[in-house]
Amino acid sequence: MKISVVGGGYVGLVSAVCFAELGHSVDLIEIDRAKCDAINAGQPPIYEVGLEERLSAHAGRNLHAYVEYDHIKYSDIIFICVGTPQGPDGHPDISNIISASESIGRALRDKDGTRYHVVVVKSTVPPGTTERQVIPSVLRQFGKNNDQIGFAVNPEFLREGMAVWDFLNPDRIVIGCRKKMDGDLVEAAYSGINAPVIRTGIMAAEMIKYASNAFLATKISYANEIGNICKKLGIDVYEVMRAVGLDRRIGPAFLNAGIGFGGSCLPKDVSALIALAEDMGEDPILLKSVMQINKLQPLRLIDLLIKRVGHLNGKKIAVLGLSFKENTDDVRESRSIVVIKELIRRGARVAAYDPKANQSMKRFLTEIDYCSSASEALTGADACLVMTEWPEFAHLDKEFDLMKSRIVIEGRRILSCNDREGICW
Ligand code: UDX
Repeated sequence: MKISVVGGGYVGLVSAVCFAELGHSVDLIEIDRAKCDAINAGQPPIYEVGLEERLSAHAGRNLHAYVEYDHIKYSDIIFICVGTPQGPDGHPDISNIISASESIGRALRDKDGTRYHVVVVKSTVPPGTTERQVIPSVLRQFGKNNDQIGFAVNPEFLREGMAVWDFLNPDRIVIGCRKKMDGDLVEAAYSGINAPVIRTGIMAAEMIKYASNAFLATKISYANEIGNICKKLGIDVYEVMRAVGLDRRIGPAFLNAGIGFGGSCLPKDVSALIALAEDMGEDPILLKSVMQINKLQPLRLIDLLIKRVGHLNGKKIAVLGLSFKENTDDVRESRSIVVIKELIRRGARVAAYDPKANQSMKRFLTEIDYCSSASEALTGADACLVMTEWPEFAHLDKEFDLMKSRIVIEGRRILSCNDREGICW
C-alpha cells in the first residue's frame, strides 16, 4: 500500500516508520526542513526506543520525508498526525489539524487519475472535530468529485518510550468511519498486526481516545489518593495496590503512586474532556478531582523534603530525573518542572541530572545546574529527590555517600537501597 503520514513528531514519525516496517511504501510530510533532512538521513529528531535502527533501515528505501504535500496524491491512505497542543482554556488548539486538512485537500485536487484516498485523523481531537471541521476543510479545498475521497478516525495509544512496541503490538486498533470501504482500507494498512479491530462511527472513535486516557489518569490519581492515606497510616501503598490490581476487574497497570502524571497526553486530554463537558453544561467532578490531585501531588514531595532538611534557602538539592518518565527525553508537563520551580522559589540551589533530558529541560529552566552524572549532582548536596524511574537510578547507593547527609526522597518507587523514603511510602 502507499501511505502518507502528515507530521513528523512522536506519533507521525513512529507511525511512518512502523508502517514502513509492515512493508508499505511511506511518504512522510514534515514542513520543518531540518527535521525532514534528518529523517531522510536515518536520524530521528527524537529519542524513542527502537526507532533509530528501524528508521535507518527504511529511510531512502520505502520511507521518504518531504516538506511539500505534493506526494500525498499518490497515496491510498493519508494519516494526519499533527499536534493538538492544549490552549489556555483547556480546549485543544486544532489549528494545525485545520491547516493540514486544507493542504491535503489542495494537494489531492491537483492529482490526475482516479485513485481513491482515505484521509485518516490519528491526532487526538475532541469528538465532532473530524465531522464538523476536518472533513469540510479537506473537501472545500478538494472541490472535486467527493466520491474519490473517504474519511476515518484511527486514534493512537502509543506510550512514549514504548511507542514502537505499542504500535506493533497494540491492545486494539480503533477505526471510526462513515463508509465501510474506508474502514476496510485503514484496516488493511495494519495487516500483519495481531490485535482486535474495533469498528465504530467517527465521533465514537474520537471519544474512545479521550475516555481511555482519562481513565488511565483516574487510576493514577486514585492510587495517589490511597497512597496519601496509606502514608499517614504507615502502610506501603505499593503492597496495597499490587493486591488490588490482581482483581481482574481492576487490573495491575497504572496504579503506581508517586508524584502524579505528566507528559504530552494525559494532562492535556483530561483538561480537554473537562472543557468539552463544560461546554455542554456538564460539571465533570470526577475528572476535575483527578486533575486537582495531580496538581497537589508534587508539592507533597517538597513538604517531605522540608520536614527532613528544614528551610531550603541556600541548600543544594540534587534532582535526579527530568523527563516526565523513563526512556524518553520529553519533559513536557514533567513533574520535575513543578518541583524545581518550587525549590527555586524557596531559595534552593538545584543540581539536576537526567540520562537523556538535560538538553530538553534547558529550554524550560535555565537557572539550575545541569550535571553530567548522578554522582556530580549528588556531590555536596543537602538532599536528593528522585523524580523519574530511569533504570540507572535503581542501584544508586554508594553515590549517596557523596552528599552532605543521605537524605533521599523518592517521587517514584525505583531505588533498591534501604534508606529511601518518599511520597509513595
Ligand atoms: C499516554 C498513554 O498511556 C497513551 O496510551 C497515549 O496515547 C499517550 O499518553 P504517555 O504520555 O507516553 O502515554 O505516558 P504513560 O506511560 O501513559 O505515563 C503518563 C504519566 O503517568 C507519566 O508521568 C508516568 O510516570 C505516570 N504514571 C504512569 C504514574 O504516575 N503511575 C503509573 O502507575 C503509571
